[in-house]
Amino acid sequence: MTDQPPATPATPGAPAPDLFTWEFATDPYPAYAWLREHAPVHRTRLPSGVEAWLVTRYVDAKQALADQRLSKNPAHHDEPAHAKGKTGIPGERKAELMTHLLNIDPPDHTRLRRLVSKAFTPRRVAEFAPRVQELTDRLIDGFAATGSADLIHEFAFPLPIYAICDLLGVPREDQDDFRDWAGMMIRHGGGPRGGVARSVKKMRGYLAELIHRKREALSDEPTPGEDLISGLIRASDHGEHLTENEAAAMAFILLFAGFETTVNLIGNGVHALLTHPEQRNRLQESLARREKGLLETGVEELLRYDGPVELATWRFATEALRIDGQDIAAGDPVLVVLAAADRDPERFADPDVLDLSRRDNQHLGYGHGIHYCLGAPLARLEGQTALATLLTRLPDLQLAVDSADLRWRGGLIMRGLRTLPVEFTPVR
Ligand code: HEM
Repeated sequence: MTDQPPATPATPGAPAPDLFTWEFATDPYPAYAWLREHAPVHRTRLPSGVEAWLVTRYVDAKQALADQRLSKNPAHHDEPAHAKGKTGIPGERKAELMTHLLNIDPPDHTRLRRLVSKAFTPRRVAEFAPRVQELTDRLIDGFAATGSADLIHEFAFPLPIYAICDLLGVPREDQDDFRDWAGMMIRHGGGPRGGVARSVKKMRGYLAELIHRKREALSDEPTPGEDLISGLIRASDHGEHLTENEAAAMAFILLFAGFETTVNLIGNGVHALLTHPEQRNRLQESLARREKGLLETGVEELLRYDGPVELATWRFATEALRIDGQDIAAGDPVLVVLAAADRDPERFADPDVLDLSRRDNQHLGYGHGIHYCLGAPLARLEGQTALATLLTRLPDLQLAVDSADLRWRGGLIMRGLRTLPVEFTPVR
């Protein structure tokens, strides 16, 4: 195990790297270094067959994320007939659940975002901290006495799903259904096929009914629960317009955007710490002194260094435009590669070095501009609680297999581990 990985310089004159291979899924950073240097706005054929532009430099990425000419609405994309239904571009699924924040532009985006921001406030998230701690402890209790665990399945996966269900106001007795549906979606990459389609359908049916039930409860009782779905309904009943479909789509995107991301923040974060013993020791020492500073900067650094979102979600050029000297035609899909931008040496000193105390760290892990992650305060709370509690309760936690043998999911948007086997001295 090395403390710092070797720098991954691009080899001048080398051919463009193969993207989306097994090696790439395991370690995409050398390929991203090549792209940043030689082809910062690079047209590539995605595994689905769609041709898209990859934007890899930090300054271009930040600008593209804020560029209103790059729409989130998939209607701007002219998909070739042969690729219909196979590309994973969300717009082709006409389901009502798809008209959510990440697929729409202003003015609809502005209205819906304002509405949900009233219900999903940083204060509500802060009040939720004891519950996140309780969930974290309960999950660790489940395996602490055994001396080993798969941290993805036993910890990183259930924590965010129960947390979001609680926040939304899904009753405890129904939360295991959500765990099953979400498991199906994560295992099969969220594509619109078979079991995934059935899971999405079940989730939609459940959410529609839950919203309906809560609306009824609200009319009977003027001061009902503090959950997010009730908050959304209340906000919409106070003048702002929110259709039932939009409410269900909002609940769905909160689950969907807040789930796999957080699984991977915890999984990638623990992996980075366990393969960087010096950084991990620093963090453990600072936690033993009950300091929070290094934990806070550390979680941001883990997001920059090996964040859960590799590429921001789809964007489509609404008109011909130019990025870093490259012409982009109207209708072309553009993918901003957050993971590449966050390792750009033009922006970050020693970008391939993990430094938990890094301060100049305006990473793009949560995006940028009007679609900046709405759940960032919750993600920070979950990430900090999960890492601090694991390292404090299981102080000699270590990988149970060689890091090189771990399997990464080869998804397009997300970067994360399939399993994370660990061992430690059993505790009761
Ligand atoms: C948007 C990352 C956790 C809800 C985004 C975007 C990124 C991101 C990069 C922007 C995508 C784009 O511009 O195409 C992350 C990461 C997380 C995380 C790295 C965990 C570490 C969460 C959580 C929630 C959430 C816990 C909610 C429960 C959302 C929503 C949006 C969003 C609703 C869409 C906002 C909009 O379009 O206005 N997130 N996210 N995220 N995220 Fe997160």
